[in-house]
Amino acid sequence: MKVLGISGSMRRKGNTAILVQKVLEEVVKGNDSIETEFISLADYEIGPCIGCDKCKEEKECVIATDGWNRIAEAMLDCDVLVVGTPVYYYDVCGQLKNCIDRTYSMYHDRKLAGKYVVTIAVHGTKGADRALETLEGFANTHEFSYLGEIEGQAAEAGEILNDAKALKEAQKVAKRIAELG
Ligand SMILES: Cc1cc2nc3c(=O)[nH]c(=O)nc-3n(C[C@H](O)[C@H](O)[C@H](O)COP(=O)(O)O)c2cc1C
Repeated sequence: MKVLGISGSMRRKGNTAILVQKVLEEVVKGNDSIETEFISLADYEIGPCIGCDKCKEEKECVIATDGWNRIAEAMLDCDVLVVGTPVYYYDVCGQLKNCIDRTYSMYHDRKLAGKYVVTIAVHGTKGADRALETLEGFANTHEFSYLGEIEGQAAEAGEILNDAKALKEAQKVAKRIAELG
């Protein structure tokens, strides 16, 4: 079984990355036969979906000039997706939204259906509920099965380590994932 963690934040070592990686670490602690991979979207250029609809025919995104293909490959290869976003203006950040929109290329054949998902949103003070709703829309559209969601509270990078509730939730969802493998 393979668990893929994606942090949408452009802060490579920010709060979202820490929380996503915490889930992955706890999964391995609970079941060391499970393979994990972590991707920070800060390491990739991901342009927007241009709405060309060519993926309806081609069954894949025809934009070949950016980092999307690598993300797509990892998503198709995983059994569980742990996807996290920093909250920007009460919603997911732009880099992750581009990534979500590009998954339209996988929607026509329901290529992600049946995989499991955990969603994570970290806000300074407000908006994580709406960001989690956006992630729920992504997950439901693709017919993922939900394993849980985590709301984190932190502003400066690293502050998430003081959010005991979010860290506890990370342990709980990780346990659920470990039990699947
Ligand atoms: C462009 C931008 C927009 C933000 N919008 C919000 C917001 O709507 N609500 C909020 O509580 N925090 C907001 N924040 C704060 C971040 O959500 C917070 O710093 C978070 O911990 C960042 O996570 P990261 O370290 O994973 O990038 C915003 C930060 C930035 C840079």
